[in-house]
Amino acid sequence: MRTKILKPGTISCLIGLLTAQLMFAQETPQLGKHPMESVINAMTIEEKAHLLIGTGMAGMNSNSSAVGQTQILVPGSAGTTYPIPRLGIPSIVLADGPAGLRIAPLRDHDPNTYYCTGFPVGSLLASTWNTELVENTGKAMGNEVLEYGVDVLLAPAMNIHRNPLCGRNFEYYSEDPVVTGKIAAAMVKGIQSNGVGTSIKHFAANNQETNRMNNDARVAPRAMREIYLKGFEIAVKEAQPWTVMSSYNYINGIYTSENKTLLTDILRQEWGFKGVVMSDWLGGKHTVAQIEAGNDLLQPGQAYQYEELVTALKNGQLSMADANISIARILELVVRSPRFNKYSYSNKPDLKAHADVARKSAAEGMVLLKNDNATLPLTVKTKNIAAFGITSYDFIAGGTGSGDVNKAYTISLTDGLKNAGYRIDKTISSTYANYRLEELAKLPKDESPFAQFMPKKPIEEIVPSTELLDHAVKVNDIALITIGRSSGEFFDRKVDSDFNLSENEQKLINVVCDAFQKKGKKVIVILNIGGVIETASWKSKPDAILLAGQAGQEAGNAVADALYGKTNPSGKLTDTYPMTYADAWSSENFPKVISDNQFDMSMITSTGMVKNEKRNIDYTVYAEGIYVGYRYFEKFNIPVSYPFGYGLSYTSFEYSNATLIENNGGYSATVTIKNTGKYPGKEVVQLYVAAPESKYADKPVKELKAFAKTAVLKPGESETITLKYTKADLASFNTLEQAWITDAGKYKAQIGASSVDMKVELPFEISNTEWMEKVNKAF
Ligand code: BGC
Repeated sequence: MRTKILKPGTISCLIGLLTAQLMFAQETPQLGKHPMESVINAMTIEEKAHLLIGTGMAGMNSNSSAVGQTQILVPGSAGTTYPIPRLGIPSIVLADGPAGLRIAPLRDHDPNTYYCTGFPVGSLLASTWNTELVENTGKAMGNEVLEYGVDVLLAPAMNIHRNPLCGRNFEYYSEDPVVTGKIAAAMVKGIQSNGVGTSIKHFAANNQETNRMNNDARVAPRAMREIYLKGFEIAVKEAQPWTVMSSYNYINGIYTSENKTLLTDILRQEWGFKGVVMSDWLGGKHTVAQIEAGNDLLQPGQAYQYEELVTALKNGQLSMADANISIARILELVVRSPRFNKYSYSNKPDLKAHADVARKSAAEGMVLLKNDNATLPLTVKTKNIAAFGITSYDFIAGGTGSGDVNKAYTISLTDGLKNAGYRIDKTISSTYANYRLEELAKLPKDESPFAQFMPKKPIEEIVPSTELLDHAVKVNDIALITIGRSSGEFFDRKVDSDFNLSENEQKLINVVCDAFQKKGKKVIVILNIGGVIETASWKSKPDAILLAGQAGQEAGNAVADALYGKTNPSGKLTDTYPMTYADAWSSENFPKVISDNQFDMSMITSTGMVKNEKRNIDYTVYAEGIYVGYRYFEKFNIPVSYPFGYGLSYTSFEYSNATLIENNGGYSATVTIKNTGKYPGKEVVQLYVAAPESKYADKPVKELKAFAKTAVLKPGESETITLKYTKADLASFNTLEQAWITDAGKYKAQIGASSVDMKVELPFEISNTEWMEKVNKAF
């Protein structure tokens, strides 16, 4: 036998190799450097429990040693994920919200400011019907997220406007799921183009604020699929948001954050969602059930959740496999984040450029509701303006709660007009200033930590005296009256003095219109509102009405731009304005008498709440099914004040040369739009489809299937618009079969300027009934 002689050099080489291997085996795996599986395997049960929940919230007991993480990283943000430095896992930062980034503007011992741009609220952005503009607004918003060191923006918010009184409708987009889904998809694309994440919320059927953490939305499967889920489905499929936020409410007896069918079968399997589902803040009750359902991350993180998770992982009540799935998703989110990728943020986004974006998007979302005798745009002779209404001077930029933005300023209507060179009557403005000061002084100071979330207490409107009116008419060319509304998280709105105008507001409109119109002078009402109000009883009085919405920090400038014609309003309503509140079917099943004391601190934590059976408080029956908004008013022939899709322009448009081509289940309609008026302008083009009678489903008269907006067309200019939809988009949901079915028969594609102003009709036929998709049994 031959003996192999090892030379001394070879031995040391071998030893070196062995040591290296041993070291590698013992080296703690690092996120991003080593396989995800090895990082997860290296976690202790305690670390896993920590990672599944956030690090707590300012003013709350934290779940972990990472106390105050959120405040340290980016003060004023809403939450953070748990850091595990030994495994190379940093915390990532989550912050609100839909109208811009919400962080604290000032920091202790720091002379710098951290203001963010207050963009127009969701309901106004949607009224632009301009997905390109919304995407650009999202780009600017997302850039502030990136540059202020935040990783995920908790937006867009996209619940359906089921009822006009939902306190958060201003954050949401529309009564229609196609508008909602397309606008949300554009917003997600814009924000995420910065390499930061979004969280589309609140998934799903979170349509009231009253008892929001305990309310059971009782909704039939068809309405769930066609109305309340459709927008989310579009946004997920078209834009792949990094995260989805489950809602507070129950749906048919199950908390959404504990509903596996919703969060796993529908969201992931049917729609292909790949990201993280996080709970709404303190939402849901059963920690283990939430993780099992696919609600990966519990925010903001509470001590009891940590304890429960550790115990459940130790005793097997929660399987390690289920926990690992959620952990892997959270780690994937972390790996995508700017913070993990060591993005060196500037804390100096270009706020000037973004203010400009805010101003442009605001102007384009404004809806001209009335414009008799070409009252608007204001003529060059108009110089002196009498501005009435408290909110003319204290313009409302957006709603309250997490959807509010800490912006550096808000341009009021009167400041916007002054910036545009108009003179605002000083006698009137000082009357308002004095009155406001007196009234504000009377309000009790709220020093609770939740004060910042509370809606502003409205000050009762004043009716101008005869002397003030005489003066106003004598020295001014025109009168403006602003009607303002503020609402927000935790509260739904009321019918009296909110949906309906208050007595004083009615009187204000009457006396100003009388006084001015008698002298041949015009009156314009500006609606500074975030949601639908009553218009039928007073709309005949003023000469013009501009729905200015809640237009963000540049609001006053944007309204001035629209009033004097620098911009031509091209927004259209994304909601129907009913004649009376009671006209909306959902009003039968919506909280009615809400007292100011409704906000009960016990509601901010859902643990241990006793569930009572109070109608519209503990549960809400969606008796109207799919008949929400225009689907209802049209089907049951209920007259409305302003229909869905409505909005005037300073110019006029002609629709011609419409065509419709079918190709393999895809439809493509084209129509040429020509500006036939005197001003440059944009037109929103809407395509509805009226379906034949079906033995599978009761059908609305017609439904919106596509929309588009022209570029600015100069007088005489034309543009050909293409609108697309598919056979699958025509399907209704059949509960018995658990399937989407497109019926055979004769259809009509109708292209128009609003839901009641059809310009062309394009008939087409489907020869066989088709089962487009069989889906999971749910709800
Ligand atoms: C709201 C969410 C928000 C979260 C974090 C909750 O009260 O419902 O929309 O993202 O707080 O601030």
